[in-house]
Amino acid sequence: MIAAASASAPGKVNLVLQVGQPDHSGYHQLFSVFDSVARREAVTITLSAPARSGNDHATAQAQTAAAQAQAAQAQAQAVSGRPWWEEVEVTTTVQIDPATDKETEQELAHLDPAQHLAVRALKEVAQNSGSERSQQLQAKQIHARLEVVKTIPMAGGMAGGSADAAAALVAANAVLQAELDDEELHRLGRRLGADVPACLAGEVTVATGYGDQIQRSYRVPTHHWVFVLAHQGLSTPEVFRHFDSLELGRNELDTELSPSLEQALLGGQVAQLFQNDLQPVAAKRDDLKQTLQELSARALPAIISGSGPTIAVPAADAEAAHALAQEIRTWPTVAATLVTTSPSAPARLEWEK
Ligand code: C5P
Repeated sequence: MIAAASASAPGKVNLVLQVGQPDHSGYHQLFSVFDSVARREAVTITLSAPARSGNDHATAQAQTAAAQAQAAQAQAQAVSGRPWWEEVEVTTTVQIDPATDKETEQELAHLDPAQHLAVRALKEVAQNSGSERSQQLQAKQIHARLEVVKTIPMAGGMAGGSADAAAALVAANAVLQAELDDEELHRLGRRLGADVPACLAGEVTVATGYGDQIQRSYRVPTHHWVFVLAHQGLSTPEVFRHFDSLELGRNELDTELSPSLEQALLGGQVAQLFQNDLQPVAAKRDDLKQTLQELSARALPAIISGSGPTIAVPAADAEAAHALAQEIRTWPTVAATLVTTSPSAPARLEWEK
């Protein structure tokens, strides 16, 4: 091993999600209040010498020769072979729902690394820094391995993929000795996904633009949540497309929180802010409609997280959250429940060596 670094980044729930009209790119202008949640994705990047084929008992001299041959071969591949990022190894550990974690891990093992947001984050950092390690990685003189620990539901509207990207940006910045500043990491993050800057920023943030322009950050007291997971995910692009087909886009969006909502937020009364323009579209699905009706029948405030299908239910404290989670998880429309708190710290480096 040459070096390793591990970073984490939080998932999110949108307390407010106002959606405007799509522009030429198909993306929508948003006004969003992101609340980071204390379920964090962890990404560890390990750099090592390219795999050798020599036997373990080779002399030091032979190893050196083998290493040289290997380096030469790597150089050649860098010119003619697959791009380096397609050869990045990714392993994923899922810690979301014990009933399905192993199955999900097996499905993830077949994903194309080149499409993985964490690998793309590593690629962005390598290509945008002139550090020696970045150059060596791109020349295939060193090899990268990524380990992702997923705790945020997938296709759930909680920015799990964006949190992978945010954590990978921070880990890559450290392990490649890239020395990119926060502004540059946000710029690269925006290219990877609209929610990545919010995952980098953590805390509670107000965002405009595509949801990628963080306007300000609030310090909000700890508050408790039950996240209600559905049996099936929802595709964010499809929810937005459906939203457009119904012509639901606003012509005007807020640009800041009103003083009364700001007061509620600063007092930790997050349910007073709840507003999600995508909710009527996501909640067309029968199971979600039913879960929301059950919650409403119990006078429990709830909001669909982003494009769904995860539903966020605030709770008074940890005890109330656990009791509620236990009850809700027995409903037939519910796959699992997660208890957590908000807000959570910005994306951060956990360790390096
Ligand atoms: O940026 P990201 O890849 O996370 O976005 C996922 C999808 O959400 C996009 O493909 C797009 O369909 C939709 N989206 C949008 N407008 C935004 C953000 C996301 O239409 N501002």
